[in-house]
Amino acid sequence: MRSLLIVVAALLAVGCSKPAEPPSMAATPPTAAGDAVVSAAPAVVAVEATPAAPAISGEQAFAMCAACHSRDAGAHQGMGPNLHNLIGRKAGSNPGFDYSPALKASDITWDAKQLDAYLSAPTKRVPGTRMAIAVPDPARRQALIEYLSAP
Ligand code: HEC
Repeated sequence: MRSLLIVVAALLAVGCSKPAEPPSMAATPPTAAGDAVVSAAPAVVAVEATPAAPAISGEQAFAMCAACHSRDAGAHQGMGPNLHNLIGRKAGSNPGFDYSPALKASDITWDAKQLDAYLSAPTKRVPGTRMAIAVPDPARRQALIEYLSAP
């Protein structure tokens, strides 16, 4: 019994010491594998972080709209209607702006879903609308919707 244990222990010792004998050769691949695991971890974190922190901020996304629109209360209406308090408002209902008959008759009440559809293809969603700027990128639309939903 005891001698068997010693043999097993001796075999284990030999077995353990064997892979460690060529240190330079054996050390390299595990280190490389370890690096791969470490570098894979931040990639997963980045993916998880995406919904919380969109790559583009609402302000950045709105820059292409600001030539015609303002989101500020009471701001001057220029080429496009003022978009303050847009959510919950009927399309084409901002007093003092000369909307297309198409948008006024669209019967849309602005919410996230309606905005998403309109911004992805305005002239498709509301044929005859005078706004021709489409936002094909869903992430940019999401950023815009959040920006326009803020008080
Ligand atoms: C070249 C000028 C122009 C640009 C740029 C522009 N729009 Fe418009 N937008 C308009 C006009 C004009 C209307 C009114 C359309 C109509 O009457 O059919 C409008 C209407 C809208 C409406 C409906 C408002 C309401 O009161 O019902 C929304 C929402 C809107 N735009 C969002 C955007 C967003 C978001 C962007 C940027 C991605 C943008 N627009 C870029 C000119 C523009």
